[in-house]
Amino acid sequence: MMKACVIGWPISHSRSPLIHGYWLKQHGIDGSYTRQSVEPASLAAFIGNLEAAGYAGCNVTIPHKEAVFRFINWADESTERLGAINTVYLRDGNIIGTNTDGEGFINSLRQTAPNIEFANKRALVLGAGGASLAVVNAILQQGVSEVAVANRTREKVEQLRKRFGQQIIPVDWDDAADQLGECDLLVNTTSLGMRDQPSLELDLSRLSSRAVVADIVYVPLRTQFLVDAAARGNTVVEGLGMLLHQAVRGFSLWFGVTPAVTRELYDLVARDIDPGFGA
Ligand code: ATR
Repeated sequence: MMKACVIGWPISHSRSPLIHGYWLKQHGIDGSYTRQSVEPASLAAFIGNLEAAGYAGCNVTIPHKEAVFRFINWADESTERLGAINTVYLRDGNIIGTNTDGEGFINSLRQTAPNIEFANKRALVLGAGGASLAVVNAILQQGVSEVAVANRTREKVEQLRKRFGQQIIPVDWDDAADQLGECDLLVNTTSLGMRDQPSLELDLSRLSSRAVVADIVYVPLRTQFLVDAAARGNTVVEGLGMLLHQAVRGFSLWFGVTPAVTRELYDLVARDIDPGFGA
């Protein structure tokens, strides 16, 4: 039997087992995907013991995404640049780290907005934390010309600019709405709008209705921010798509089959997040 898991601390809320479990069943694979609670002091031992424990690899989530670099043999260049690993797999006795969050975000955009173009477009990203890093890296790779980044803590935007260069345009958090006139892609990467968090307050009146608006928050499935953007006629991309699409390459690396993000999978996870979904 082939095994994979997700490690984090705490890990009880991860929906990855639901996603990978669906694909294992769909493809008739004799495998398992479990949640493993691994505290920081146990991370080295867990990663070092993956092969002996029969794992093909694992997903890595908070708080281990950066720390796990110390315990792998190799990571691809894009993952090194990002400084965060979300997927670990074994090849020829080596422990390899990679990151699928960026492609998860891009493929989610493409699924919902198939005609989206990136070349020479301007993006505005709200937030400058770990999720922002993956999103900014991914859209720069797609060829956007500029990424304006607004964050409550200005210092973190300066760090992004040091990492990615002059295509990053720092914007004061309170001035974000003023930037919307020039914006082709608007992305919320903050935790604002998440259940039990304050809402994201942004005046969208300057935003072109041709802009694509994405949120990485997926609880609730459609944030008020996206509800407001959709009411203005914008194409909106919900956060759940990124979660589903980031899982694809890990499954393929561990189990040897590239799975599809189907409507049925979306509905399954959506119902887990919101039992009233589709009812
Ligand atoms: P993640 O890995 O999910 O990105 P994170 O690194 O903790 O998590 O980042 C959270 C993001 O949400 C940050 O951009 C944070 O802004 P700060 O850098 O100023 O902390 C943003 N955020 C969280 N609560 C916020 C609030 N009440 N107002 C504005 N921004 C907020």
